[in-house]
Formats: sequence, C-alpha cells, structure tokens
Amino acid sequence: MTALLHLDASARRNSVSRLLGTAFADAWRGEHPAGGYTYRDLAADPIPFIGEGWTELCDRVLARGSTDLDRLGELVNSPAQQEAWEIVEPLLTEVRAADVILIGTPMYNYSIPASLKAWLDQITFPRMSLAPRRFVVVTARGGAYSPGAPKAIYDYQERYLRDFFAGHFAVQDTVFVNAELVNSRHDPALAHLREKHEASYTAALDTARRLGKEY
Ligand SMILES: Cc1cc2nc3c(=O)[nH]c(=O)nc-3n(C[C@H](O)[C@H](O)[C@H](O)COP(=O)(O)O)c2cc1C
Repeated sequence: MTALLHLDASARRNSVSRLLGTAFADAWRGEHPAGGYTYRDLAADPIPFIGEGWTELCDRVLARGSTDLDRLGELVNSPAQQEAWEIVEPLLTEVRAADVILIGTPMYNYSIPASLKAWLDQITFPRMSLAPRRFVVVTARGGAYSPGAPKAIYDYQERYLRDFFAGHFAVQDTVFVNAELVNSRHDPALAHLREKHEASYTAALDTARRLGKEY
C-alpha cells in the first residue's frame, strides 16, 4: 500500500511552508484515497534531542556492523538505551511505513529549524538506506537563494538536506519546492520585492499541487 508521511517544522501557524505542504498532501490524498497518511508537527510536538543512551545504541550499531533496521531494537542493552529506543522506534516505524516523505520546513539561519534536525538525529543510524522512498521538501525563505541570487551560496537548507539524504539515506532524487522572499510581506524595506515573492509563492503552490498528484 502506498503511504505518505507528512512533517511540518515551522514555528508559525500562519506559515508558508505549511501551506505548501498542505497543497501537496491534499493533492496526494485526492489521488490516493485508500493510501496511508500520517502527519507529524515537529514544531507543536517537538521531538527530544538525542541523549547519551541514543549515542550508546548508535555505537553498538557501528560495532556490530548492523544494517538491518528490523533488528535495531535487539541491540538495546541498558535502561538508557531502552529509553532512547522508545523514542526512536515509533519515529522509525512511521518513516519505514511511508513510501513518500513530505517535509515542510522554513529556512532558519540559512539552514533548517532545530525541530527538524532533532527528528533527523533521532531517526538516522549508520549505513541506513531509505531508498527507494521518495522525499519532497517544501520550503519558505525570507530571502532569495535561487541560482544566480547573490545569497545563493548561503543556502545550507536545500544543499544540506539534498546532500544528507543522498549521502546517508541513498536517496538521490529529493525534490525541493521553494517559496522565496517571504520577508517582503513583513519588511517595508523589501516591499519592492513583493511581486517577485508572489510569483515565487504562486509557482511553488502550483508545483506542490502538481507533484502531489504525480507522486
Ligand atoms: C528564527 C528565524 C530565522 C530565519 N532565518 C532566515 C534566513 O537565514 N534566511 C532567510 O531568507 N530567511 C530567514 N528567516 C525567514 C523565514 O525563512 C521566513 O519567515 C519563512 O517564511 C519561514 O517559513 P514559514 O512561513 O513556513 O514559517 C528566518 C525566520 C526565523 C523566524
């Protein structure tokens, strides 16, 4: 059965990345009425940061050369590791049950919010492949980082997620849909960029809807 895992990470309720994610998810669910759908709001219900028990479990995975995610829980051998595993296990189960993983995320300080990083830290174990799952990341940024923009080199949001999913999860084809210049809605000094923002936002919404139908 096909299944979508939908994550949001914006600290805002009235959030552009949330709207883009909803556009994709609504379109996807319209195409897959019998598909599985799981939603997790990483900002409203934050995932704890990893602790020492988690690092012990990770070291045991490394020491055993273990690659079988089904057997990860068998490596637990202390109360601290058990405590860590009780956080990891349901998160990993959600990821593994999905064939499409949709992440709605703002750009914070050139990168991703701590809420999303906390989730990634919890679910990532050595030598773990998530292929052939497909990742779609819908983002909102205050500025512009598209190729050719003066600040393009500071986009550690898309580049980080793309490289991490490719290098660590063996997922090479993550698709990004970015709405740019959102700060022009709020900052009078950027009012002249409002039209460019509207065009970027409208294009991103259309793309999110189209991809939701195609996936
Ligand atoms: C803590 C914080 C850090 C931000 N850092 C950046 C940044 O580095 N670059 C940028 O272009 N916009 C930055 N912004 C603006 C957000 O990317 C913008 O408001 C975007 O719309 C947030 O996504 P959302 O609408 O889904 O919440 C930041 C906003 C916040 C709240």
